[in-house]
This record gives sequence, C-alpha cells and structure tokens, in this order.
Amino acid sequence: MANPQHNFLTAIDVGSAKTCVLVAEVTDSGLRYRGHGISESRGSRKGVIVDLEKAVASIQKAVEQAEDVCGAPIEHALLGVAGSHVRGMNSHGGLSLGTRAREIARDEIRLAVDKARAIPLPADREILHLLPQEFILDEQSGVHDPLGMMAMRLEVRVHMVTAGSSATQNVVTAVNRAGVHVDDTVFEPLACADAVLRADERELGVCLMDLGAGSTSLIVFQEGAVIHTAVIPIGGDHFTSDLSVGLCTPLAEAEKIKKLYGNVIVTLIPEGNEVEVPSVGDRPSRLISQRMVGEILEPRARELFEMLRDNLRHSGMLDVCVGGIVLSGGTSRLAGILDIAESVLRRPMRLSWPTALAKMPSTLAEPEYATVLGMIFYGHRSRIARGLQDTRWSSRLMGLFAKKGA
Ligand SMILES: Nc1ncnc2c1ncn2[C@@H]1O[C@H](COP(=O)(O)OP(=O)(O)OP(=O)(O)O)[C@@H](O)[C@H]1O
Ligand SMILES: [Mg+2]
Repeated sequence: MANPQHNFLTAIDVGSAKTCVLVAEVTDSGLRYRGHGISESRGSRKGVIVDLEKAVASIQKAVEQAEDVCGAPIEHALLGVAGSHVRGMNSHGGLSLGTRAREIARDEIRLAVDKARAIPLPADREILHLLPQEFILDEQSGVHDPLGMMAMRLEVRVHMVTAGSSATQNVVTAVNRAGVHVDDTVFEPLACADAVLRADERELGVCLMDLGAGSTSLIVFQEGAVIHTAVIPIGGDHFTSDLSVGLCTPLAEAEKIKKLYGNVIVTLIPEGNEVEVPSVGDRPSRLISQRMVGEILEPRARELFEMLRDNLRHSGMLDVCVGGIVLSGGTSRLAGILDIAESVLRRPMRLSWPTALAKMPSTLAEPEYATVLGMIFYGHRSRIARGLQDTRWSSRLMGLFAKKGA
C-alpha cells in the first residue's frame, strides 16, 4: 500500500520570534493544508542558535502540535535559513568554444556554471543557492537555455547566496535533535517570494522585504531572475526594545503597546489619545499620550527604511524596482508602515497577503506566515523539478542551479 506521507511536504521556519511548522499534502488538485504548529522561539536570535537545548525544545513543541493536527509523524522537512550571516552576490563565468561558432553541449554549460561559482569563499561560508540569471552567447544576452545553440563563447550570470556554515549547521542540528531530518535548506525570502510575488512583478522588477523580529531580509527580482539579496540587522524586536527603554516598561508590555497602539507616523495618531503604561518594579502604571508611542517608533522605522533604501541604492537596485516593493513579515503589520516606507523609498508599496493552501485556516493567511507558506510552494516546485530531471534538460538545469553546497 502506498505510504500517504510520501505526498506530504513539511516546512520549518525557526524565526527570532516564532517557530512555525507547516505540513501540506500534494494532491491531484494541488496543495492541501494538513496541519501546523507554532511555538514561541527560544534559544535563537536573528537566525542564529544561541542556546541549543531551548531551540530544540521550541522546535519540538511546534513539530508535536503539527503532528497532532495532521495525525502523522513528521520525519523530513525543508528548513528556512535567514539572518545577518546570509549574503548575496552576483557572479559570472564563461568559456571559449573555439574560433568558429559551434553547438553548445551540456558539459560546457556545466563548466560555465562551475566557473561562475568558483569564487574563493572564507572557510566558514557555504553556497546556499546558485540562481541563474541569463546565459550570454557571444554578444547575445538573455538566453535561458543555451543547449544546442551555436556560439564561439558561452557565459553565464548567476546570483549566489552564501551563508555562515556553522550558523546554518546549528539550525540544522537543532531540527535534527527535535527528531526531524532536514532534506534541504532555502534562503527564506526566496521561498517567501513564491507565496507573495506575482509573475508580472518579478518580470518588471520588484523588491520583497521580509520585516521579521530580529532582522529584515530583502530580495530583488528582474526579468524573472534574482538579482540581489541582503539582510539588514534590524527588525521588530528593536522597535519593542526602543519602546521598553523610552517608556520605562517591561519588554512584554512594550510588545503589547506596540501591537495595540503603535503607529510609525506620529501625525496619524489623534491628539489627546492616552495609553496606560505599566511600570517596572512596584511603581504604579502611568497614562501617556499615544503620540509618545509614535514619537519613539517613527525614528526607528525611518532608520530601517533609510538603511533598506541605501542598500538598494548602493547596489544599483533602487531604479530596478519599477514594479514596486512588497512588505511581508510580522513587522509589516505595524500601523503606518506603508506610508513611511513609501515616503523614504519613493516606490509603489503593497503589503503581502500570501497565497493560501486549500483547507488552510484563515489565521495563517497573514504576512508573518508568508515565509513558511512560500517554503511549501518552493519545496513543491523543487520536487517537481527533481522529478522531471531525467526527462527535461531545463529542469535538470534548475536542479543544477538549486543545488546546495559547493
Ligand atoms: N500587529 C502587529 N503590529 C506590530 N508588530 C507586530 C504585529 N504582529 C507582529 N508584530 C511584530 O512582528 C515581529 C515578528 O514577525 P515575524 O513572525 O515575521 O518574525 P520571525 O520570522 O519570528 O523573525 P525573523 O524573521 O527576524 O527571524 C515581532 O517583532 C512582532 O512584534
Ligand atoms: Mg521570519
């Protein structure tokens, strides 16, 4: 009898704030929700494990919840990788095919790709993704599949995403110790894009920004290919700690105030509104103006978007984003975030509402679950590409590019 779990796909997102496990089933009519589990992340900060035991326990909790809902053990998963240790860069490589144009063979394509990836990396870094942008045959750019075409010179442009080896390995170890084998890893915004970006945006030029708790990741697409990735070490936790210090209130209270009364545009907060702020120690709580909350949050939001703008500008990407900028992640729910982002970045902005799985609870259709949902779509796409590898060269090429590790 066929094992029904063979059709299950599991994604694990070990975020700075929450750990999320999502299980989907591949059916004839598409992907169907089977279960999920969410736990508060412990022992990990900004995508890096700082306390293995605590991290294992919170992953285990989310895994067990998901197992209870889907009624089956979770043995394998796709794991998300994020955090400031991840870096992106463009690279290219090429080779001469001779003095006369001749037909390009598979091995030559492989060799060109090998040359593009042959960049000396520090000992503690590994290649997470090698994403194709285009092949160039002599002077002709924009070729997607050069097999069988004629040229004297073959070049390839790729986007490489690298990650700290030990940072990545520690998250893999934590998931393994929670009893789940990691089949593959994915840079989280790359997966998130599968849940929130549309094909026309990717073609025209779009930037997806994942505003998490510990950091903000960004990915830029143009002509359907990834051309830039980066991580900025600021996320929602920084907003919360600013409020905690500024209002002299415990972090947990600052977090509640941020979600309930926060707005990153002071002038959008009605004058005269008041907020009760619990104090630290035995001191009584106080009433403060809601505008004071905005006065603390606005400079942090402005700083974050200025850093994002500078990153895009310095890499020549700001002008590429003609299709706009899409915000995802829990911090994108902060009131006023679209307004401030638009005023700093001067590009059309929108929030991300991830594509849902069939039968999925509506509580998961929120920006903070876009990454784990995208991981399911990405995992499904990779599985199809791998399945077709023996029959179609283009898929084989995708497999080659998507492969992990140098
Ligand atoms: N309604 C809300 N208003 C403001 N902030 C919110 C809201 N909901 C969640 N957040 C913030 O979003 C952040 C959590 O977002 P998310 O779940 O995307 O992070 P994460 O994936 O765990 O972290 P990271 O991606 O950095 O590893 C927290 O800082 C939280 O305070
Ligand atoms: Mg996240």
